[in-house]
Amino acid sequence: MDFPLKCDNPGAMQALGRDLAGELASGGVVGLDGELGAGKTELVRGLAAGMGCEGEVTSPTFAILQEYRAGARNLYHFDFYRVESGEEILALGWDELLEEPASVVIVEWAEKFAGLLPSKALRLRIEILSPEERLVLCEGP
Ligand SMILES: Nc1ncnc2c1ncn2[C@@H]1O[C@H](COP(=O)(O)OP(=O)(O)OP(=O)(O)O)[C@@H](O)[C@H]1O
Ligand SMILES: [Mg+2]
Repeated sequence: MDFPLKCDNPGAMQALGRDLAGELASGGVVGLDGELGAGKTELVRGLAAGMGCEGEVTSPTFAILQEYRAGARNLYHFDFYRVESGEEILALGWDELLEEPASVVIVEWAEKFAGLLPSKALRLRIEILSPEERLVLCEGP
Protein backbone atom coordinates (compact mmCIF):
# COMPACT_ATOMS: atom_id res chain seq x y z
CA MET A 1 0.00 0.00 0.00
CA ASP A 2 1.24 3.44 -0.88
CA PHE A 3 0.89 6.29 1.61
CA PRO A 4 -0.10 9.07 1.74
CA LEU A 5 -3.31 7.86 0.18
CA LYS A 6 -6.27 9.98 -0.80
CA CYS A 7 -9.81 8.67 -0.22
CA ASP A 8 -12.51 10.65 -2.02
CA ASN A 9 -15.52 8.94 -0.44
CA PRO A 10 -16.44 6.55 2.38
CA GLY A 11 -16.32 3.59 -0.01
CA ALA A 12 -12.68 4.35 -0.77
CA MET A 13 -11.91 4.34 2.95
CA GLN A 14 -13.60 0.94 3.28
CA ALA A 15 -11.59 -0.30 0.30
CA LEU A 16 -8.42 0.72 2.12
CA GLY A 17 -9.60 -1.29 5.11
CA ARG A 18 -10.18 -4.32 2.87
CA ASP A 19 -6.67 -3.98 1.45
CA LEU A 20 -5.36 -3.81 4.98
CA ALA A 21 -7.04 -7.14 5.73
CA GLY A 22 -4.76 -8.68 3.09
CA GLU A 23 -1.69 -7.19 4.75
CA LEU A 24 -2.82 -8.52 8.13
CA ALA A 25 -3.44 -12.10 7.02
CA SER A 26 -1.19 -13.35 9.81
CA GLY A 27 -2.45 -10.83 12.37
CA GLY A 28 -1.21 -7.51 13.68
CA VAL A 29 -1.96 -4.30 15.49
CA VAL A 30 -3.13 -1.04 13.88
CA GLY A 31 -3.43 2.34 15.61
CA LEU A 32 -5.77 4.88 13.99
CA ASP A 33 -5.77 8.60 14.67
CA GLY A 34 -7.63 11.55 13.26
CA GLU A 35 -10.29 13.93 14.52
CA LEU A 36 -13.97 13.14 15.11
CA GLY A 37 -15.59 12.01 11.88
CA ALA A 38 -12.28 11.45 10.11
CA GLY A 39 -13.34 7.99 8.97
CA LYS A 40 -11.61 5.65 11.42
CA THR A 41 -14.70 3.49 11.93
CA GLU A 42 -15.31 3.53 8.17
CA LEU A 43 -11.85 1.99 7.70
CA VAL A 44 -12.55 -0.64 10.37
CA ARG A 45 -15.76 -1.57 8.50
CA GLY A 46 -13.73 -2.37 5.42
CA LEU A 47 -11.16 -4.28 7.45
CA ALA A 48 -13.89 -6.39 9.07
CA ALA A 49 -15.45 -7.10 5.68
CA GLY A 50 -12.04 -8.04 4.25
CA MET A 51 -11.38 -10.42 7.14
CA GLY A 52 -14.80 -12.01 6.68
CA CYS A 53 -16.06 -10.96 10.09
CA GLU A 54 -19.56 -11.73 11.27
CA GLY A 55 -21.76 -8.86 12.38
CA GLU A 56 -21.94 -5.19 11.57
CA VAL A 57 -19.22 -2.85 12.77
CA THR A 58 -20.55 -0.10 14.98
CA SER A 59 -18.72 2.66 16.75
CA PRO A 60 -17.49 1.24 20.05
CA THR A 61 -17.20 4.67 21.64
CA PHE A 62 -19.28 3.64 24.64
CA ALA A 63 -17.96 0.11 24.85
CA ILE A 64 -14.17 0.60 24.51
CA LEU A 65 -14.03 -2.81 22.81
CA GLN A 66 -16.06 -4.69 20.22
CA GLU A 67 -15.08 -8.21 19.18
CA TYR A 68 -15.81 -9.80 15.82
CA ARG A 69 -15.18 -13.40 14.81
CA ALA A 70 -13.54 -14.14 11.49
CA GLY A 71 -13.39 -17.90 11.26
CA ALA A 72 -10.67 -19.12 13.60
CA ARG A 73 -9.37 -15.63 14.41
CA ASN A 74 -10.76 -12.45 15.88
CA LEU A 75 -10.89 -8.76 15.20
CA TYR A 76 -10.64 -6.61 18.33
CA HIS A 77 -11.89 -3.09 17.70
CA PHE A 78 -10.94 -0.64 20.43
CA ASP A 79 -11.88 3.01 20.79
CA PHE A 80 -9.75 4.87 23.33
CA TYR A 81 -11.74 8.13 22.99
CA ARG A 82 -13.52 7.86 26.33
CA VAL A 83 -10.89 5.85 28.16
CA GLU A 84 -9.47 7.72 31.14
CA SER A 85 -6.69 5.41 32.25
CA GLY A 86 -4.61 2.67 30.69
CA GLU A 87 -5.81 0.38 33.47
CA GLU A 88 -9.25 0.24 31.83
CA ILE A 89 -7.64 -1.14 28.69
CA LEU A 90 -5.42 -3.62 30.50
CA ALA A 91 -8.45 -4.85 32.46
CA LEU A 92 -9.99 -6.00 29.17
CA GLY A 93 -7.15 -8.46 28.70
CA TRP A 94 -5.16 -6.22 26.35
CA ASP A 95 -1.88 -8.11 26.79
CA GLU A 96 -3.49 -11.47 26.07
CA LEU A 97 -5.31 -10.15 23.00
CA LEU A 98 -2.04 -8.88 21.54
CA GLU A 99 -0.56 -12.36 21.92
CA GLU A 100 -3.39 -14.14 20.09
CA PRO A 101 -1.95 -15.66 16.93
CA ALA A 102 -3.41 -14.30 13.67
CA SER A 103 -5.92 -12.04 15.40
CA VAL A 104 -6.08 -8.35 14.53
CA VAL A 105 -6.28 -5.49 17.03
CA ILE A 106 -7.31 -2.08 15.68
CA VAL A 107 -7.55 1.00 17.87
CA GLU A 108 -9.34 4.31 17.25
CA TRP A 109 -7.75 7.29 19.04
CA ALA A 110 -4.59 5.21 19.55
CA GLU A 111 -2.50 8.30 20.38
CA LYS A 112 -4.29 8.66 23.72
CA PHE A 113 -2.45 5.59 25.04
CA ALA A 114 0.18 5.15 22.37
CA GLY A 115 2.54 3.62 24.92
CA LEU A 116 0.34 0.52 25.08
CA LEU A 117 0.80 -0.27 21.40
CA PRO A 118 3.60 -2.61 20.41
CA SER A 119 6.42 -0.82 18.58
CA LYS A 120 5.68 -2.88 15.47
CA ALA A 121 2.09 -1.59 15.26
CA LEU A 122 1.04 0.06 12.01
CA ARG A 123 0.09 3.66 12.75
CA LEU A 124 -2.26 5.49 10.40
CA ARG A 125 -3.52 9.06 10.63
CA ILE A 126 -6.55 10.30 8.70
CA GLU A 127 -6.73 13.99 7.86
CA ILE A 128 -9.92 15.67 6.70
CA LEU A 129 -9.29 17.66 3.53
CA SER A 130 -12.90 18.46 2.68
CA PRO A 131 -16.33 17.03 3.56
CA GLU A 132 -15.68 14.04 1.27
CA GLU A 133 -11.90 13.91 0.96
CA ARG A 134 -9.48 12.29 3.38
CA LEU A 135 -5.71 11.88 3.36
CA VAL A 136 -4.37 8.76 5.06
CA LEU A 137 -0.81 9.00 6.33
CA CYS A 138 1.34 6.16 7.59
CA GLU A 139 3.23 7.12 10.75
CA GLY A 140 4.61 3.74 11.72
CA PRO A 141 6.55 0.85 10.20
N1 LIG B 1 -13.57 9.93 2.21
C1 LIG B 1 -14.21 9.56 3.32
N2 LIG B 1 -13.69 8.59 4.10
C2 LIG B 1 -14.30 8.23 5.24
N3 LIG B 1 -15.45 8.77 5.71
C3 LIG B 1 -16.01 9.73 4.98
C4 LIG B 1 -15.43 10.17 3.77
N4 LIG B 1 -16.21 11.14 3.25
C5 LIG B 1 -17.23 11.30 4.09
N5 LIG B 1 -17.13 10.47 5.13
C6 LIG B 1 -18.08 10.42 6.24
O1 LIG B 1 -17.40 10.82 7.40
C7 LIG B 1 -17.90 10.09 8.51
C8 LIG B 1 -16.77 9.31 9.14
O2 LIG B 1 -17.28 8.74 10.29
P1 LIG B 1 -16.52 7.71 11.18
O3 LIG B 1 -17.49 7.28 12.22
O4 LIG B 1 -15.88 6.65 10.34
O5 LIG B 1 -15.38 8.63 11.81
P2 LIG B 1 -14.45 8.32 13.04
O6 LIG B 1 -13.09 8.78 12.66
O7 LIG B 1 -14.61 6.90 13.43
O8 LIG B 1 -15.02 9.29 14.16
P3 LIG B 1 -15.00 9.13 15.76
O9 LIG B 1 -13.71 9.72 16.23
O10 LIG B 1 -16.19 9.90 16.20
O11 LIG B 1 -15.11 7.67 16.09
C9 LIG B 1 -19.00 9.17 7.99
O12 LIG B 1 -20.22 9.79 8.13
C10 LIG B 1 -18.63 9.02 6.53
O13 LIG B 1 -19.73 8.74 5.71
MG1 LIG C 1 -15.17 5.96 15.19
